[in-house]
Amino acid sequence: MRRFLFPTQVMKEAPRIPADVLVVGTGVAGLFFALHHPGRSLLISKSEAFTSNSSLAQGGVACAIGAGDSTQAHFNDTLKAGAGLCDEEMVWTLVREGPGVIKDLFRLGVQFDRQLGHLDLGKEGSHTLRRVLHVQDRTGDEIIRVLYERALAEARIRFMERTYLVDVLTDQDQVTGAFVLGTSGPLVVETSQVVLASGGYAFLFEPSTNPPDAVGEGIMAAYRAGANLSDLEFVQFHPTALHSNDVPRFLISETVRGEGALLRNQAGERFMLEVHPMAELAPRDVVAQAIYRQMQQEKTDHVFLDFRSIDPDVLTRHFPVILAKCQSLGLDPRKDWVPVSPAAHYTMGGVRTDSWGATSLPGLYAVGEVACTGVHGANRLASNSMLEGMVFGRRLATHLSATRPQSLPLVWEEEKTSKERPLPPISLEALRYQMGERVGILRDASGLRQAWDTFCRWQVKMERSTFLRLEECRLYSSATLASLVALTALTREESRGAHQRIDFPERNDRQWHTHIQIS
Ligand code: SIN
Repeated sequence: MRRFLFPTQVMKEAPRIPADVLVVGTGVAGLFFALHHPGRSLLISKSEAFTSNSSLAQGGVACAIGAGDSTQAHFNDTLKAGAGLCDEEMVWTLVREGPGVIKDLFRLGVQFDRQLGHLDLGKEGSHTLRRVLHVQDRTGDEIIRVLYERALAEARIRFMERTYLVDVLTDQDQVTGAFVLGTSGPLVVETSQVVLASGGYAFLFEPSTNPPDAVGEGIMAAYRAGANLSDLEFVQFHPTALHSNDVPRFLISETVRGEGALLRNQAGERFMLEVHPMAELAPRDVVAQAIYRQMQQEKTDHVFLDFRSIDPDVLTRHFPVILAKCQSLGLDPRKDWVPVSPAAHYTMGGVRTDSWGATSLPGLYAVGEVACTGVHGANRLASNSMLEGMVFGRRLATHLSATRPQSLPLVWEEEKTSKERPLPPISLEALRYQMGERVGILRDASGLRQAWDTFCRWQVKMERSTFLRLEECRLYSSATLASLVALTALTREESRGAHQRIDFPERNDRQWHTHIQIS
């Protein structure tokens, strides 16, 4: 694998700007970090700062604050969904610090929905209680709006939009800066503290509910710089994306099933009753796999979601965005069944961090989906992800406020790669197709090996080319990450949570109660 994507000469000659902390990404984790960090932060985002994967989150934020709920119950549900691989200490941190984060959101101005004066809590798969705070079905969008407005008002927080992290720069295993591509060309940010809040890699799969930016470039920049990765094989598919040709696929929130929507096959039968005692509200991996099997059995590409048992008032009040989207396609969920199918939605794996967000590389930190804290295990509990981004974003802010940013000299390694050669004809579409077909919901050794071989061949071919454009970097980075996901999925010879091997259908705690780390 190459250490840097761009030729060293281009990086050496790039203009330089200093920053105390560089934050890569402006989703909930990045914004929450910046708002809680007393120092000066420079935030970069690949597109506009207020558009991120977080904005697409419909369901909400899970937190044990309702009557009858407890951190113990939230902890138990998280562990159960995680299929034996959650890091218990990290989960305790998440559920214990969650209520404080919700208080922060209230203080910052987020107005979660209320009913008769009380918080209107939603329910999602695998939660034993109602504990999902929401703002209709546009929770992520509203939280980002509030956090972004707050951040804009802080002089210590600066934004650079349409700016893309290419590589993290290091010297003697310590961060010295970052090489980025901005609107006016290449730039070196001189900093000893880089916070990755750049999201996951679910867009590497076709279909996906994620925007095209979610291809895990932050994870690969961390890896090239020497940080350890973990749990890459665990990719969560959302059971109910609206079945259409949209890219990304439009999500039909799990909270819809929490309010009573039912899954039906082509014959109109409720097939989840036979699969799990919680039926439609079983853990997300169980529901997604059951839908996929149902589709295979019926040789069709979707099942149906039947909203008719939801009180029409609840439907209009709680789900206006979903209702409007269905209506724009000529479907009225009050009477029509809505076609749905699973789509890649969230990646549990990422850059391994400790409980403060520190990675194995001094000066490099990671929060949110890009990080692997261990709270999600093999299958994330619904609506725990925004909570994780904020809890660990805030913890990292506390941790870094006790450190003093230093300015370290930039040192350039000798160029070992890149003779100028044209890039081979490989496309992200072809890669996403392979990922969806061979590394998707149901996996086996033969498909995984084929995918891994293909991605490795692509990676080697591309390695010989010189990259000077964003698309080339993105493709190389995607092929490298795809090869690692396929390899880790091939290595884990068992079925657990979101990782289902049809050739190893049983969970094997004796051999695989462990994390696959890549260093
Ligand atoms: C949903 O609303 O179903 C998505 C929530 C999540 O992914 O946690």
